[in-house]
Amino acid sequence: MANIATIEIDGKKYEFPLVKGSEDEVAIDIKALRSATGGVITLDPGYKNTGSCESAITFLDGEKGILRYRGYSIEELAEKADFLEVAYLLIFGELPSAEKLNKFHSDIKKHSVVDDDVKKILDAFPKSAHPMGVLSSLTSALTAFNPSSVNVESEEEMYNAIVRILGKFPILVAWTMRKKKGLPLYYGDSSLGYVENILKMMFKQPNEEKYEQNPILVNALDKLLILHADHEQNCSTSTVRIVGSSHAGLFASLSAGISALWGPLHGGANQAVLEMLEAIKEDGGDTKKYMAKAKDKNDPFRLMGFGHRVYKNFDPRAKIIKIAADEVLGDLGIEDPILDIAKGLEKEALEDSYFVDRKLYPNVDFYSGIIYRGMGIPTDMFTVMFALGRLPGWIAQWREMRLRKEPIGRPRQMYTGETERKFAPVNKR
Ligand code: SDX
Repeated sequence: MANIATIEIDGKKYEFPLVKGSEDEVAIDIKALRSATGGVITLDPGYKNTGSCESAITFLDGEKGILRYRGYSIEELAEKADFLEVAYLLIFGELPSAEKLNKFHSDIKKHSVVDDDVKKILDAFPKSAHPMGVLSSLTSALTAFNPSSVNVESEEEMYNAIVRILGKFPILVAWTMRKKKGLPLYYGDSSLGYVENILKMMFKQPNEEKYEQNPILVNALDKLLILHADHEQNCSTSTVRIVGSSHAGLFASLSAGISALWGPLHGGANQAVLEMLEAIKEDGGDTKKYMAKAKDKNDPFRLMGFGHRVYKNFDPRAKIIKIAADEVLGDLGIEDPILDIAKGLEKEALEDSYFVDRKLYPNVDFYSGIIYRGMGIPTDMFTVMFALGRLPGWIAQWREMRLRKEPIGRPRQMYTGETERKFAPVNKR
């Protein structure tokens, strides 16, 4: 393949270099486009064909249903690694030795507390507040109590901000859920593993002398967090990168990412899937009615948990989560009719030309909520759990952008409004 692309505009030819990635993906480097052509830009709403950066963190192949973190397949990591190990891999690029992982975890534990005034901020929220709004607010509020985490220039300063947020974020997640349930807020237990500690902070009951860890829940949560840990330049990660590109602090950038993830077209879909399945169940399991709604262009309803910007084949995470859902509910002895409805819906959709022609398959959000529900997590907390998993990916992408000293993100536009016109007061004074 030639290593240049030629664009012809008004009979004049312009050449631009082709960039090839380590998986043989090809991009046209248009950094010089506007200056070389006297102002011509590209237009690509939703950035469906536009790369915002070069990144060495995660690789997706949407046609083949491949997902790898730093070269390791999601299937192997979900089966053989644990979440904190994967977090280290995503952020620093290599799997940690036992010694490095222990130091990472002990540095995180040093910051596994939050200022008591954060509880006052949390108390100010009504119980009806959506947990994602609470989490985004509290994450941004952490900046006020950790000012040193804002102007991070050196790798050491970045490391300190990273272990701080990895220590504090699980507390915010647990407290956000317990606040809604009217339960007392507990700090973590530094004798426990990272995921065990999260479960204890979330689920320890006031009358319990000792919280008994359930290995089924520990393994399920560890796997779910790994599966959600990164996904290259998705909406919320792109948000974290562009906010961070202005040199806003890490916590502020993460807070913006949480808000982006909240949307039902993105991470909010896991909550929307459960609400959809519940509605179908209430409707007597009439999946055909909802399939018809999803295909009706005049109906805004979409089959939540289906379709993906990149995967035009099965989302590899959905395959793993579907198996895990059966295992976890089975191990917990839970018979959830919602799971059967989900499987029925999937089967119908995969046989329906509307979905097949558009290559719409179940995505990561289709089955994950069924496991969270089986674990006793409220539906409106599902996207908070997604954010907990995505945290190391956001951090890794933010760190990569800052270390590479990438320019502030500032897209262009195509103006289609009024051309110049003289001011003539409409209301005669
Ligand atoms: C996540 O990007 C990531 O990596 C995200 C994520 C991550 O890990 O960060 O993977 C997590 O966000 C997963 C996606 C969760 N969202 C949902 O499940 C919501 C339902 N899905 C859709 O809203 C949609 O599929 C998107 C938003 C996921 C993708 O939308 P696109 O790429 O903009 O595709 P599109 O809207 O242009 O759809 C193409 C066609 C359209 O029909 P036509 O106009 O061609 O006739 O497919 C149709 C759409 O109407 N379509 C659907 C559909 N998804 C797409 N029709 C019914 N139900 C759906 N779910």
